Amino acid sequence: MADESRRPMTAPGVRARKGGAKLKMVTAYDAPTARIADRAGADIILVGDSLANVVLGYDDTLKVTMDVMIHHTAAVTRAKPMALVVGDMPWLSYHSSTAEAVANAGRFVREGGASAVKLEGGRKRLPMIEAVLDAEIPVMGHLGLTPQSVNSMGGYKVQGKRAQAAYEMISDAHALAEAGVFAFILEGVPDVVAKMITDEIDVPTIGIGAGPNCDGQVLVFHDVTGLGAGQYVPKFVRSYANLADDAVIALEQFFEDVESGAFPSEAETYHMPAESEEILRNLADPSDHLMADEAMEN
Ligand code: KIV
Repeated sequence: MADESRRPMTAPGVRARKGGAKLKMVTAYDAPTARIADRAGADIILVGDSLANVVLGYDDTLKVTMDVMIHHTAAVTRAKPMALVVGDMPWLSYHSSTAEAVANAGRFVREGGASAVKLEGGRKRLPMIEAVLDAEIPVMGHLGLTPQSVNSMGGYKVQGKRAQAAYEMISDAHALAEAGVFAFILEGVPDVVAKMITDEIDVPTIGIGAGPNCDGQVLVFHDVTGLGAGQYVPKFVRSYANLADDAVIALEQFFEDVESGAFPSEAETYHMPAESEEILRNLADPSDHLMADEAMEN
């Protein structure tokens, strides 16, 4: 359960947790999921572009736009969580120029109310990451299996299994840390590579499918809670509840009560004062008005 006395989390606060208490991070896409994540004690809430497949029914994250991401980020921040809210920059919102990256990162802060943004990629994205940091917007990196690269990777595949690829990833991690990211996600990475990065680099690593040695862990809200309702769940996910099944049971009971007439009960019904009811009953038959209206029209 959340500590009621806790203070709002900041990007420097997350950065300072390197080597300390593990960072707890989860996605949220709207006000109710943000409130739940916050009550449970999340340090960081990511408004992930996984919104596309988890909530909006697309096959991958490439379909979600800036406008949609801002809409959902604003819903999350309206819940006023204590957790740091990180907006996930969607595909093509930071790829063509540093100016575009800064403008779009700025929208997450100004319109979405986020306190930081996340960008996928390593040294290739360094100019954009540096420009966003230069605009005073904290950046979280994301290395390894970066879902926005699904087509160039040829599918959702664990990254860094070969020594050379792992070496490149470690070099990317060093470059991001030197640029000044306050943390980075390691997704779909062999545990030994995640451990090397975590041990070598003085910036918190947050793993998802990256083994137990990272400075924190992140999962998708709907995966942890079993709200995905039949969506594919990767090997690295642990579901702690089956809320989709609970929701079906609740709805079935509601529908049963509707059919039987057990819902709504007396307690769930509004009443009018008896004297108003009586006056209403003594008023002329409403069909008289209808007849009068028709007569006037003719
Ligand atoms: O979009 C997302 O949900 C992510 C994760 C790190 C889970 O990027």
